[in-house]
Amino acid sequence: MLSRPPPFAAAALLLLLLVAGAASHDVHVSMMNRLGGGNNMTLHCQSKDNNLGQQTVPDGSEFGWDFSVNVEGTTLFFCDLGWQSVMDFHFDAYSFGRDFVRCSGDKCLWIVAKEGIYGQNGKTGLWEYAYSWPN
Ligand SMILES: *[C@@H]1O[C@H](CO)[C@@H](O)[C@H](O)[C@H]1NC(C)=O
Repeated sequence: MLSRPPPFAAAALLLLLLVAGAASHDVHVSMMNRLGGGNNMTLHCQSKDNNLGQQTVPDGSEFGWDFSVNVEGTTLFFCDLGWQSVMDFHFDAYSFGRDFVRCSGDKCLWIVAKEGIYGQNGKTGLWEYAYSWPN
């Protein structure tokens, strides 16, 4: 007969489950084209391990993806975005240090507009002006 595991083993198992849970913390990032005027945007996002490829996102549509943040807290997705005269505008779509708390609710949402890019603060629900286009 197996005896009940000692409390220490139960505590260790619980800790393991918590760590595994943190390791598989899923985030959804979405870039929404709200440029208006029928403007397409081109978007190329990638991380160290994943290349999401060059996308053409029509006005009013979005491009999104899901991923798990790593335990080291170094998850980073960076993108190059283009529309009209804006060429290869480089920005971070998800940076663990900046966004783990800011994008609470596990959604990191961005609106791409004529004046720049807005990010939603998951804590307040407000859209914050994050990037302006280079002159
Ligand atoms: C947007 O992209 C679509 C598909 O690639 C293309 O047919 C359309 O002409 C583009 N619109 C503009 C305004 O460039």
